[in-house]
Parts: sequence; C-alpha cells; structure tokens
Amino acid sequence: MLGIIVGERFQHGRPWTRPEIDAVESIAADIGRGLHHARLYEQEERLVEELKSVFDMRTEFFTTVAHELRSPLASIEGYVEMLGNGEGGPVTSDQQRMLAAIERGATRLRNLIDDLFTLAKLESGTGTTVMGPVDLAGVVTGAADAVRPSAAAGGLALTSSCPPGLAVNGDANQLDRLLINLLSNAVKFTPGGGQVSVTASAGGGWAVVTVRDSGIGIPEPDRGHLFSRFFRASNAVERRIPGTGLGLAIVQAITVGHGGEVAVQSQEGTGTTVTVRLPLAGSGHQPAEPADRR
Ligand SMILES: Nc1ncnc2c1ncn2[C@@H]1O[C@H](COP(=O)(O)OP(=O)(O)O)[C@@H](O)[C@H]1O
Ligand SMILES: [Mg+2]
Repeated sequence: MLGIIVGERFQHGRPWTRPEIDAVESIAADIGRGLHHARLYEQEERLVEELKSVFDMRTEFFTTVAHELRSPLASIEGYVEMLGNGEGGPVTSDQQRMLAAIERGATRLRNLIDDLFTLAKLESGTGTTVMGPVDLAGVVTGAADAVRPSAAAGGLALTSSCPPGLAVNGDANQLDRLLINLLSNAVKFTPGGGQVSVTASAGGGWAVVTVRDSGIGIPEPDRGHLFSRFFRASNAVERRIPGTGLGLAIVQAITVGHGGEVAVQSQEGTGTTVTVRLPLAGSGHQPAEPADRR
C-alpha cells in the first residue's frame, strides 16, 4: 500500500454514487502511478550516482597504479642500460642477450602501462582535452615521421599525403596518438618489402584519414572484435607479433570523442585499410561525451 486518500462530504446521509467512487478510484490510481514512478526515478538516480563513483574510483585506481608501476620500471630500465654499457664491469655476450631480454620485457610493460593509462583517461574524460582547429597536414607528417625509422628497419615503403589547409575540430595530441597507433599497426603487421600509406582528404563534410598497408591482413572471424580491449587477431598471436591489444580501443575512444567514425577493411594475406572520419573544423558537428559518462 502506498497511502490512503480520505474524502469528506458536506451532505451527510447521502450514499456515495458510482461516478463519485469511480472518480476517486481513478484519481487514487493516477496518484499511485505517479508515486511509483517518482520512487523508481529516485532509485535510478541513486544507482547512477553509485555507478559514477565506482567509475571515478576505477579511473583513480588506474592512474595511481600506472604511476606506481612507472617508477620501479624506470629504475629497471636505467640499471639495464648501465649494465649494458659496461658500467658494472665487463659484460659477456650471454649476459648481453639476457639484458636484451630484460629490456624487451620492460618495453612491453611500459607500453601496456602507457596504453592502460591513456585509455582510462580517455574513457573517464579526466585527461586534458583541448579542442580547437587542428591542421591535419602537420599531424599526418608528424606521425609518418615518427614511424619512419621502424618502417625503414622493416624494409617498407612509407608514403604520406595531405592537402594544405585541411583542418579538423579536435585535440592535436589525441589525433597524433590516433595516427601513430594506426601507422604503427600498419608497419608492425606488414612484412618486409611491403607498402604503408597515410592519406587525408576532405569528403562529404568530413576529413577522411586513411591508413593502408599491404600486410598480413585480419582473418574474417576476428574482424568484428578489433576494437575490444586486449583483443588480438589469431594471426598476430600465431606470429608472436608483440602488442597490447589496446591500440585500436584507444583509436576508437579518440574518434568517438571527436564525433567521428572509424572503419576497418581487411583481407587476410592482402592488407588492411583503416578509415577515420572526423568533423571538419567549423562544420558544426558536436563531439560525443566520453563513452561511459553519458
Ligand atoms: N594493420 C593491421 N594489419 C593486420 N592486423 C591488424 C592491423 N591493425 C590491427 N590489427 C589486428 O588488430 C589487433 C588489435 O590492434 P591493436 O589494438 O592496435 O593491438 P596491438 O597491440 O596488437 O597492436 C591486432 O593485434 C591485430 O591482430
Ligand atoms: Mg597496435
């Protein structure tokens, strides 16, 4: 029972008529429904508040853990470098090999910590996002330059193109991260002698950025899961190509945060093309809120 409605009448001795009873019953039912909805709404609000605080705790946890892991890692890296340089005495070739293995492990850990930290910041919206007009030509060239050494080391032809004056509404650091993640995938998953290209152009009110490679491609059954955290396609795992499986989740979080879209086309053994559409500067497209805060 939600409550009681009390009616008092001024003409004593006259029985309640059917229409009067019906009217009171209908009012009581309406009030009951209203009260019920109000209580549900209140419960829902409380639940949203609780979820928000759990979410904030999760972000804080990630940020703290990332920080706590980085300091000892820096000391491991520092001492490995010193030992490698012979600062602790002569190093045998066996010891050099062991040090190289420690260094690889430390790099993997560093990448994982950095990726987890970046994703936590993006999803919670706690990072510093500075939205404004960003010249894509600068971002495209900068990202291509960043992966050029690893492309050259892998014997790959790397090309980039972007018309001057193509500007999107976005955060330059995040767009830089997005392109580096895509280009480093293209380089990493393309065997020697292959091609990697990054192009940007305007089309249909969007800036369209395309990263294309002639690499190992992605098996059909894996293509639907590429943006899930920690997901790595079977051919990447089989070939023991290193990675965290967080790079594309970061790409998606950044794209969504910019009000854009990302799509992957791939053919196993032939290559992969990733297309990102971003709102052109001044196009009036509204960036979405961080995924979990809606
Ligand atoms: N250009 C590409 N060519 C082939 N496979 C790719 C490419 N980009 C992404 N993938 C597949 O998608 C998975 C997820 O990508 P990502 O999140 O960047 O993880 P990773 O840390 O492995 O690079 C990769 O492990 C790989 O299986
Ligand atoms: Mg990656």
